[in-house]
Amino acid sequence: MSSPEAPGSEWWRTAVIYQIYPRSFADRSGDGIGDLPGVTSRLNDLSALGVDAIWLSPFQRSPQKDAGYDVSDYCDVDPIFGTLADFDEMLAQAHARGIRVIVDLVPNHSSDQHVWFRNALAAAPGSPERARYIFRDGKGPQGEEPPNNWESVFGGPAWTRVTEADGTPGQWYLHLFDTSQPDFDWTNDEVRQEFRRILRFWLDRGVDGFRVDVAHGLVKKEGLPDYTPPTDAGSMGGGETAVPYWGQDGVHEIYRDWHELLAEYDGDRALCAEAWLPSVAQTALWVRPDEMHQAFNFEYLETPWDAQKLRLVIADSLAGFGAVGAPSTWVLSNHDVVRHASRLALTVENPQGYGIGPRTPGKPDPVVGLRRARAATTLMLALPGSAYLYQGEELGLPEVIDLPDSARQDPTWFRTHGERYGRDGCRVPLPWTADGPSYGFNDTGESWLPQPTQWAAFARDVQRDDPDSTLTLYKTLLAERRARGLGAGQLEWIDSLPEHVVAFRNGSITVVANVGTEPVPLPGGTVVVSSGPVASGILSPDQTVWLAGD
Ligand code: NOJ
Repeated sequence: MSSPEAPGSEWWRTAVIYQIYPRSFADRSGDGIGDLPGVTSRLNDLSALGVDAIWLSPFQRSPQKDAGYDVSDYCDVDPIFGTLADFDEMLAQAHARGIRVIVDLVPNHSSDQHVWFRNALAAAPGSPERARYIFRDGKGPQGEEPPNNWESVFGGPAWTRVTEADGTPGQWYLHLFDTSQPDFDWTNDEVRQEFRRILRFWLDRGVDGFRVDVAHGLVKKEGLPDYTPPTDAGSMGGGETAVPYWGQDGVHEIYRDWHELLAEYDGDRALCAEAWLPSVAQTALWVRPDEMHQAFNFEYLETPWDAQKLRLVIADSLAGFGAVGAPSTWVLSNHDVVRHASRLALTVENPQGYGIGPRTPGKPDPVVGLRRARAATTLMLALPGSAYLYQGEELGLPEVIDLPDSARQDPTWFRTHGERYGRDGCRVPLPWTADGPSYGFNDTGESWLPQPTQWAAFARDVQRDDPDSTLTLYKTLLAERRARGLGAGQLEWIDSLPEHVVAFRNGSITVVANVGTEPVPLPGGTVVVSSGPVASGILSPDQTVWLAGD
């Protein structure tokens, strides 16, 4: 597991990485929130699925104001998820099965309960304690206006005013996300030193890498100038250009430093950037040879079900990442976006973080959504590079649309006063069994978000032995991808098929995706795997097939 590979063949270049959202994966304690012993107990299912690595969303100590992306102690496990010993056991068990483990690192902001922020509040303006975060005096005669006009990603102003120790209204602090998530000041060397310590803490425990949260946000433009985003901007920054808090040049120096730090360790440890940027070309700046190893390809995730756009984004991705010697990554779902089994059937645009609820226009047709999701995944897993899967997509789970408002927990829902549903609908705890309390998520029936009754039909146990299930499709795709070395392959376009078809060769297979509304005759070859039934050499709309031979 730990021996370094020859340059160019490192594991992360071709890996299929499965995202675990710990609070919704499996719950051993029975309190309704998933935990690390739950993850350990289900590793055999992930081995059977055939993934190379898992990435765990944050399980570190946190008041859970943003489901763990508000960390109060970076070097401990939150009691709701277990203990450090539970983590070590999970890591050892994953490694014993040949599964690598990536943990989430949240360097843009801490929780407001982090000891540094508590000390900053207790200290005076201008103190070294305040200098670890971004405190500024307000505008206006009494400092009653925020220092600039920036808005939080979750809605509302990005600044909150504090009350000074003597009880008077005081300075303001910056939080690009919730008020409970103050941004660090990365020009401060203490912050840099502290994150080196945190990286080493987890590397010393044996983790294989880090997914770096808001990797494009750490450095803010000097002077913090006003900025008004265009109305079509995605919530995490997609679609925006020249934003004074995203993608500033200064961040690259931080990742070069981390690259060197990781290189001191054996076994090709990796950094993956969560960076929502307007183009693949800009995202590729994060993965130059001395920076991060991978970056999420959100441009791909945001591409609609449209043949021409898919061809373009695939070509751009391979060229853009390839130009800096990095693998392209591919991703269709995660804990921040509408699940692709629903998103691909939406008839309106729905930027990340908006969610779907009862009032959402253009509600997705679940049958069309699942058919397209299976076809989209069959296309994605044939592409060279590394792919990310989000827990539950292997079951074909849709977004949960009908959560009661009283159950909603995403800060987006509260900070937009119910205007955006936010991300709860993609975070509902997984169904493992069709029967039993909470569909096998735990044995008490508790669940931090209510599970819909339709979960029974998606449960893993009913899909396991069904040759036509989405779970069986994923297993077959992963096994064939591995056996045929597709992750390390080369893509060669096939242009002889109709416009609404995406078709290419990768090594021993020919991939044909029908992204239109008309059936297409298939080229010759034996069906290796198909996202839906193929009859008499005809590929129906919303279907993808892998063919071998000929
Ligand atoms: C991106 C994470 O994926 C999201 O869930 C979180 O709310 C923000 N970063 C803030 O940490």
